[in-house]
Amino acid sequence: MLPVAELHLHIEGTLEPELLVTLAARNGVPLPTTDLGELRARYRFASLRSFLDLYYESMRVLRTEQDFYDLASAYLTRAKAAGVRRAEIFFDPQSHTGAGVPIEAVFTGLSAALADDDTGISADLVMCFLRDLGPDAAMDTLEAALPFREKFIGVGLDSTEIGYPPALFRDVYRRAAAEGLRLVAHAAEEGPPDYVTEALDVLGAERIDHGVRSMEDPSLVARLRDERVPLTVCPLSNVALRVVPTMRAHMLPAMLDAGLMVTVNSDDPAYFCGYVDDNFAAVREEFGLPDETLAGLARNSFAASFAPDLDKQKWKAEVDAWLTGRDGHDRMS
Ligand code: ADE
Ligand code: ZN
Repeated sequence: MLPVAELHLHIEGTLEPELLVTLAARNGVPLPTTDLGELRARYRFASLRSFLDLYYESMRVLRTEQDFYDLASAYLTRAKAAGVRRAEIFFDPQSHTGAGVPIEAVFTGLSAALADDDTGISADLVMCFLRDLGPDAAMDTLEAALPFREKFIGVGLDSTEIGYPPALFRDVYRRAAAEGLRLVAHAAEEGPPDYVTEALDVLGAERIDHGVRSMEDPSLVARLRDERVPLTVCPLSNVALRVVPTMRAHMLPAMLDAGLMVTVNSDDPAYFCGYVDDNFAAVREEFGLPDETLAGLARNSFAASFAPDLDKQKWKAEVDAWLTGRDGHDRMS
């Protein structure tokens, strides 16, 4: 299995129907159905907004510290099987506190699962602000999270994109930077390429989540290439949310041809039919990517991670060993 870092993964997006039903029963939260097939059949989306509606509704089953612990533990177990060595895990505290869950339950449950984990995965938490709740709510969330400062390493920006440009969040990102937090932001998933420029120049984002619509602006592409800005691309998500009509139409090959620092990630794997290994398999099969290219994507993921340099070197050596071990092997094995 190719060793990778997963840099774009929403922990709430790992809520598989089985755990959804278990948590709903545990917490007495009504569901429209408890039939796993029927639940999965609802996972068809016309857009980011239509996905988010179901996503926020489903996460109502997460109520207690134990629920967040179980969610993160289940992800780490699955991630281990996907070859993940390093995970920088997004979570959305506002979608829980808005439903009456104390922020402490979110932080303590998730961080305890990471601390107790025995998969060997190096993992850290990145707290995301819901952009459609606006900058004041984001600042309040950062303030509420600071008592748990040692439990997260960075901040991100997610949820509905269009109409909520990154620049709105300048002050909260400035505050986060002053606290020593790492900075990332979703941009140009559904929104225009300008949002990437704003995320870089106004927020100081160190990585761009998605960024696929950057390809519409050649001068931005040149900048991203020259500055080696990491882009956390999520191919199965882009197909599921109709950012692209089909995998064949995905811009990943063009991004690679343009020399961009691309990484491959899963976003919300329980909803988009695939964990990070499935995303790698999908692009390998669709575009016939050679092992050298897959190894390059994996190396990019470690280089773009916020892990210590010594760990990065160790993981990159594992990628080299994977590539050497693949010499002469059937590419599909
Ligand atoms: N939250 C979870 N998944 C997301 C995505 N793909 N875009 C924006 N916000 C999200
Ligand atoms: Zn995302």
